[in-house]
Amino acid sequence: MTETIFEFLSKVGFTHPLHPALTHIPMGMVMGAVVFRLASFLPRLKILAKTGYHCVILGLLGIAPTAFAGYLDWQHRYQGEWEFFIILKMVLASLLTIALISIAIMDDPENPKFDRKTGFYFLIVLLAIGLGFSGGELQYG
Ligand code: HEM
Repeated sequence: MTETIFEFLSKVGFTHPLHPALTHIPMGMVMGAVVFRLASFLPRLKILAKTGYHCVILGLLGIAPTAFAGYLDWQHRYQGEWEFFIILKMVLASLLTIALISIAIMDDPENPKFDRKTGFYFLIVLLAIGLGFSGGELQYG
């Protein structure tokens, strides 16, 4: 299946890896989520907690296609070879998914507080940094 997809893409002139383009969805939404969450503690900006929460939802929706594209690139460009950074990325992507679902379920963006729920926003940034770092190591060595 993987080679059929890449053969089709190359026939229509697309020869790049798929995953890097999609990574911007979860990466950007996670960064936006924490920035808006922190900004919501400033006077008169409480409403931005909702914006941060919406970033969490969109980031969560972006995980499946991003991880799938990562899987396809791994099969196509790295021949599905198991290496440390691939395993690390799978673990981090799973943890990020769990953390985002936890926020989606637990958080009350109408009443943002500097509590454990806000701690989860910091956690998703750390996980996203880990994913970006391990992706960079795979891509650029
Ligand atoms: C939501 C989860 C994920 C995020 C946010 C993410 C993020 C990234 C980023 C930022 C890069 C560097 C891209 C660049 O050079 O511009 C990257 C590269 C890479 N990632 Fe991921 N990643 C995720 C999940 C996965 C998974 C599950 C796999 C494999 C099963 C994977 C495999 C790869 C590979 C092979 C590369 C090297 C570049 C390529 O050939 O696509 N990623 N990732």
